[in-house]
Amino acid sequence: MNPPPTAAEIGVIGGSGLYALLDNATEHEVDTPYGPPSDRITVAEVGGRRVAFLPRHGRDHRFPPHRIPYRANLWALRSLGVRQIIAPCAVGGLRPELGPGTFVVPDQLIDRTSGREQTFYDSGAVHVSFADPYCPVGRAAVLDSAERVSAVDGGTMVVVEGPRFSTRAESRWFTAIGGTIVNMTGHPEAVLARELALCYTAIALVTDLDAGVEGDHGVTQEEVFSVFAENTARLRDVLLDAVAKLPAERSCPCPDALAGIKLPFELP
Ligand code: ADE
Repeated sequence: MNPPPTAAEIGVIGGSGLYALLDNATEHEVDTPYGPPSDRITVAEVGGRRVAFLPRHGRDHRFPPHRIPYRANLWALRSLGVRQIIAPCAVGGLRPELGPGTFVVPDQLIDRTSGREQTFYDSGAVHVSFADPYCPVGRAAVLDSAERVSAVDGGTMVVVEGPRFSTRAESRWFTAIGGTIVNMTGHPEAVLARELALCYTAIALVTDLDAGVEGDHGVTQEEVFSVFAENTARLRDVLLDAVAKLPAERSCPCPDALAGIKLPFELP
């Protein structure tokens, strides 16, 4: 029997400048207890796997980073059957060697956001482990595919509230506390995925050097969008290769994120 057209195992959440990914896809409106996700979700088969694509900001970039319906996005993907997520995003480099066009597969994050809904569990005792925020198996698959773009293996993503870019002092401080790259959407997306026992792997494209790194120019929106646009084809290539490399059976710790915890409601 064919799977229903909405059925998907892998989700890709597209960042600024990546508003479509899949050819020959079907398109679906999905609703959730947290309202609708950022946009309609497109589903297609890629390399023998069912893949769902959701543009994080909406396809018309309607949602700024602090207004993205993160909970609805993660819930909607899980309700289609998605268990593994690859999450591309634009970032600023916090070190001079990480110039525009560099890909980084981070292994840590520092949350500097404020006021965002960052949990599904507003009642009961549900405390997930988040020491390692990204799926180790997902990272290995993405790194394998991202060899073609010489991606950097590992790095700490500082996530700021935005929508403004950072001051030079903030930026220098992020570097001093161990940050490698900086962006506005990596949190709470990663932790919400963990709270639904999903695998989550970020792949970051450096679009600029952040304000504290180099002399005299601050980051502009224009450079972020134009560098992202210049690199969309490379990113798409990596993503479509990586989805086919993700193992169908999950052997990582992510499916057990909620083991032994009494949940206040059933997951979709
Ligand atoms: N996204 C892309 N570049 C960024 C930067 N420098 N700071 C925060 N978010 C970003």
